Amino acid sequence: MTIRHALRGTILRFHDNPFFTPAADAMHIEPDGLVVIADGHIETVGNYDDLRPNLDANISIADYRGCLIGPGFIDAHVHYPQLSVIASYGEQLLTWLERYVFPEERRFHDENYSAEIARKFLNELLRAGTTTAAVYCTVHPQSVEAFFRESAHRNTRMIAGKVLMDRNAPDDLRDTAQRGYDESRHLIDRWHRNGRQFYAVTPRFAPTSTEEQLTLAGALLDTAPDLFMQTHLLENRQEEAWVRQLFPARKGYLDVYDHANLVRPRSIFGHAVHVSEHDLGHCHDKGCTFAHCPTSNLFLGSGNFRLFDALRAERPVHVALGTDVGAGDTLSLLRVANEAYKIAQSTGHSLHPAQAYWLATTGGAQALHIDHLVGKIAPGMEADLCVLDPAATPILAQRTANAESYNDILFALMILGDERSVRATYVNGRKIDF
Ligand code: GUN
Ligand code: ZN
Repeated sequence: MTIRHALRGTILRFHDNPFFTPAADAMHIEPDGLVVIADGHIETVGNYDDLRPNLDANISIADYRGCLIGPGFIDAHVHYPQLSVIASYGEQLLTWLERYVFPEERRFHDENYSAEIARKFLNELLRAGTTTAAVYCTVHPQSVEAFFRESAHRNTRMIAGKVLMDRNAPDDLRDTAQRGYDESRHLIDRWHRNGRQFYAVTPRFAPTSTEEQLTLAGALLDTAPDLFMQTHLLENRQEEAWVRQLFPARKGYLDVYDHANLVRPRSIFGHAVHVSEHDLGHCHDKGCTFAHCPTSNLFLGSGNFRLFDALRAERPVHVALGTDVGAGDTLSLLRVANEAYKIAQSTGHSLHPAQAYWLATTGGAQALHIDHLVGKIAPGMEADLCVLDPAATPILAQRTANAESYNDILFALMILGDERSVRATYVNGRKIDF
């Protein structure tokens, strides 16, 4: 028997991409709306008064009047093993990796430790309203096993993979090209499209892989349908110079990945701060995706991603938002949107709240090619939802009391909001306790 339940509140949906239509008009707002959920999926959505008479008198309705009901947030770039090294002082990318990240990632040799951190990570992610993430594990297959097991237990839709690193890393954090291939292949068989889990082939970044390993990563992508690829690209100037030294035969950093057949749809490149116009045109042609990680770029002093350049209408590149914890200092995509706004301001553009909210939800799902599953409130979609409270803190309540529009309320939430503004998170129709 189908069990239905419903949520009542203000429902936010997009009928257009707010970067290519006037942003203020891109959202459809249902001020007193109802979302009806059956068997983990959205069954109906619309106006409360219109829908209520057709429903069973005894249906359970969660009352979120005064709150905004939208899709769960989508984090396109995050490292679960770095939860404990968030907020590490005083370094930029390459020395930060050596000093803080690699020593912590060694601990994921232990599957029990991996499971403990995976649990904490997923709890924090859901508390922040994020229901889908593209997640780096470590080089240890057991770190991947532990993560997927914890995700499957919660039935969250996650994308994750084993980091591939066969050089320029400590001995006990390196695989070999062949071992990395074999271990990834085994994990793909176990976890890719197992329930709600997706696998991402995960070469960490060009400096820590030989050409042979990158080529095998490209070959892995052809071994199963819908595999993802995630790596880092052009985050930091020293990193870029190092890649040029390590791969002198290639035309540039992006060409290293392209040569290995890694630049394609479902490939997610973290950062892309220092991309050239030529790179942007090429990424548009190839249909790959950038994860914009402003909190991380500010924390490590990496530089300013040119969002509005990447999205230029004549050759847009897919863009989603990423927290990049532990270089990013928060798992809240509201706080990421806050810093994305400030970085856009510094490049002469004002990121509209509808645009930021779109990147964190519907646009993020499109950029990851999972918008037929999540990222929208529409019949048939998986019921992953995030309910935001515009009066969650005294200052938010003060600021939104006389708000002039829903766009204005969203802007207040993206600038003043964080985990505290998340009133509820639903995964596959089930409310999460936190
Ligand atoms: N580049 C290679 N590895 C990493 C990482 O773990 N974090 C970030 N921010 N950049 C990287
Ligand atoms: Zn990263």
